[in-house]
Amino acid sequence: MANGILQGKRGIISGALDENSIAWKVAMKAKAEGATFTLTNAPIAMRMGEIKKLADACEAEIIPADATSIEEIENLYTKSLDVLGGKVDFVLHSIGMSPNIRKGRSYGDLNYEWFLKSVDVSALSFHKFLQVAEKMDAINEWGSVVALSYMAAQRTFPFYTDMAEAKSMLESIARSYGYRYGKLKNVRVNTVSQSPTKTTAGSGIGGFDKFYDFADKMAPLGNASADDCANYVVMMFSDYTRMVTMQNLFHDGGYSMMGVSESLLQGE
Ligand code: NAI
Repeated sequence: MANGILQGKRGIISGALDENSIAWKVAMKAKAEGATFTLTNAPIAMRMGEIKKLADACEAEIIPADATSIEEIENLYTKSLDVLGGKVDFVLHSIGMSPNIRKGRSYGDLNYEWFLKSVDVSALSFHKFLQVAEKMDAINEWGSVVALSYMAAQRTFPFYTDMAEAKSMLESIARSYGYRYGKLKNVRVNTVSQSPTKTTAGSGIGGFDKFYDFADKMAPLGNASADDCANYVVMMFSDYTRMVTMQNLFHDGGYSMMGVSESLLQGE
């Protein structure tokens, strides 16, 4: 269904770990829609080697960067602008990690060093992506920056522990930086709040499979897939959404507006 809506646009896509990753699907769609871009991930993720396949398919260069490091983000923008031949039009932040979730710590037993790590990797890194871009003037006027969020930013999902706080901060950064970058350069900043999705990050959350089925039965359209999410993100990068900024946009098959569904009540 490609229509060339990103023809001539340049970008940076973070967070493609393997073919299940939301960022992987975004990269494939962005390529199909005519964009050129660089791919980035933490150096540790690179060693697993999967991203090379994506880079070949998208004719994209890989530039490793730990999203918590200002120096590595500066290097990411410098090299991307060089490789792509100019400033970028879009940036995808598709990065999340909580050591507390990984190690199964409950909300009443969090390790605070790890909590800081969760916030640094999953939320502050978004501010760093934006602040470095602003200082380097790396994003074109009317550019679009998107980060992926989850509804635990607004409502309580006990198993999401410290990532709930990280996502709340992520969405707040989209509002605060969206104002600033909008006034400065007409650059747009939004978060897309996605359905539970079967990826490495998603499946790491306690009780994910049960919750995935619950959400699927609650949402009138069912859970939104990573492919559908990629379509939405690509639209957000396009000029069709040029007046949308500072928003948290639910992409969840209707889940966020539900109270209860008949399928759940009837135990279908
Ligand atoms: P994923 O595991 O494929 O992607 C997470 C990415 O974060 C990986 O590529 C990983 O290498 C990267 N990352 C971790 N630490 C990093 C660091 N220090 N520097 C740079 N990159 C780092 O999983 P998924 O689901 O595609 O996650 C992408 C985003 O979508 C995350 O922000 C996640 O919270 C969000 N999301 C996921 C949902 C799900 O159910 N899978 C639902 C809603 C949002």
